[in-house]
Amino acid sequence: MVPRPTVWLDMDPGIDDSWAIAVALSQCDVAGISTVAGNVELEHTFQNAQDVLNVLGHPEIPVFPGADGPLLEPLITAQAFHGEQGLGDYVAEPRNIPGISASTLRVWSRWAQEPIRESATHLIATGPLTNLAMGFLAFPELRSAWRSITAMCGALPGTEMDKAKEFNVYVDPHAADVVFRYGERVQMLGINVAHKALVPIRDLDRLPRYGKVGRMLAKMLNFYTIEARGEGGNPDAFPIDDVVAVAAVSYPEIFQWRELPLTVVREGPLRGTVVISPIDVKRPVVRVALDIEVEEFLIWLWQSMERYRA
Ligand code: BDR
Ligand code: CA
Repeated sequence: MVPRPTVWLDMDPGIDDSWAIAVALSQCDVAGISTVAGNVELEHTFQNAQDVLNVLGHPEIPVFPGADGPLLEPLITAQAFHGEQGLGDYVAEPRNIPGISASTLRVWSRWAQEPIRESATHLIATGPLTNLAMGFLAFPELRSAWRSITAMCGALPGTEMDKAKEFNVYVDPHAADVVFRYGERVQMLGINVAHKALVPIRDLDRLPRYGKVGRMLAKMLNFYTIEARGEGGNPDAFPIDDVVAVAAVSYPEIFQWRELPLTVVREGPLRGTVVISPIDVKRPVVRVALDIEVEEFLIWLWQSMERYRA
């Protein structure tokens, strides 16, 4: 296990993103959160990140609104899984926060500051990769600014899930391609692995132990499991893909990896499929997750939640 890595979260909360914030605060030092349109529109992902941090007792962590839509394609959302505003049945305390304007520039200038520039910070991306791609194109020095870049997206080429159109890469395939093309020290945690790390439905009985954090997650998961239960093949369990991305940084020993150069199919019926780059296309290698020790992951997950025990 990596002792408290410093991480930056780029995400679209979203229910599994929200649980990922909770677990990241327990296992890592969270330097900040940038939000992106994805599961729901940017105004909600930005607000949700702040609401979740409030409940988790960390309102001081900076949250930024990034891109309000993919690089080239119209936004597609995932409200069936995450609810109208992104947090399922959870409604935050009344809030009165002024309107936002999308500002990827503010995200990138924050990334250009210490300690990120010193490559001390791991970037964990659990939404469409739009903020990263725009940053890498506008400021090439950001491509190598990170100790690692772990993206929850896509699926290992050649696995039966590789054409399942994983949401984050499907929504912004051009952005994912830019990240694979230019990012340094990139890791891809695809749904071929994330969908193995399933949480048994019966484990939800544990949530009341965790006070207001448990109540918040219970309301979210109450909604999420209606659609997500059975995804991954077990009708009595559900995936929490974005939480697995935090484990990939905090507890990399439980994963197996393979290095591959990757390209993304950006248009047509195979849009969003991650493929191995043709030999004549020079690409850096990406560490792609092959497998995970699921029991170890679940132990790590519930140990992480002990921080919130009421
Ligand atoms: C990804 O899609 C989103 O709905 C989840 O938050 C996760 O990031 C899984 O395919
Ligand atoms: Ca997400």
